[in-house]
Amino acid sequence: MNASTPVSRPAGSADIDRIALLLDSIEPERLLRRTRLQIQSDIDQYQVCEVDGRVVSCTALSPYRRCTSPSGEIACVATHPDFRGRGLAADLIRRQIERARGRGWAVLYVLTRSAADWFAAFGFESIELSALPAERRRRLQSDSLRCSQALQLRLNLAVSERQAVSEVQPGFPGRPASA
Ligand SMILES: CC(C)(COP(=O)(O)OP(=O)(O)OC[C@H]1O[C@@H](n2cnc3c(N)ncnc32)[C@H](O)[C@@H]1OP(=O)(O)O)[C@@H](O)C(=O)NCCC(=O)NCCS
Repeated sequence: MNASTPVSRPAGSADIDRIALLLDSIEPERLLRRTRLQIQSDIDQYQVCEVDGRVVSCTALSPYRRCTSPSGEIACVATHPDFRGRGLAADLIRRQIERARGRGWAVLYVLTRSAADWFAAFGFESIELSALPAERRRRLQSDSLRCSQALQLRLNLAVSERQAVSEVQPGFPGRPASA
């Protein structure tokens, strides 16, 4: 494996500034802003993809702590514009889906303003706002201006990974992280 081979892995405290730098490169209208402090306090939730020592893609897996059935959300999905279309984010999403399944979560949610089609390829389905856990709806209300155009999607983790990721739309989205 040479230095330019993308490496996906869980994030650590050394990645906080590198994630912040990556998020600075993302179109502001497509992603909610996170402060360095927010990234720091949630750092255990992140998976990152590194190329040449640089974090070029990330996602976070954020638990809904007050839900009766264990669940949570994929958040902060971002790839640096120079590294898009190589399957890096798709690889991180698959890892987060596995991580959620490994924790025994029944469902996984995502809120997105611009990438609903992309998430659909992993098996996420559009749901009504009322189907979001109350805990998340409350946070949305307090964040209503920024999230007003977001769609909410849900993935049933009881569906096998093969069905959710490969069979629904073979080969999509993205190519393997090593491509
Ligand atoms: C969405 C995003 C994370 C994809 O990152 P990536 O590493 O390029 O993703 P992959 O390489 O795994 O997948 C790329 C494929 O998804 C498609 N895709 C990218 N963004 C899309 C979108 N918003 N809607 C539908 N498809 C999209 C690309 O056209 C590409 O298709 P192709 O492989 O057939 O060419 C990246 O475009 C990004 O950072 N966008 C800005 C932030 C954002 O929108 N985040 C998601 C909101 S929650």
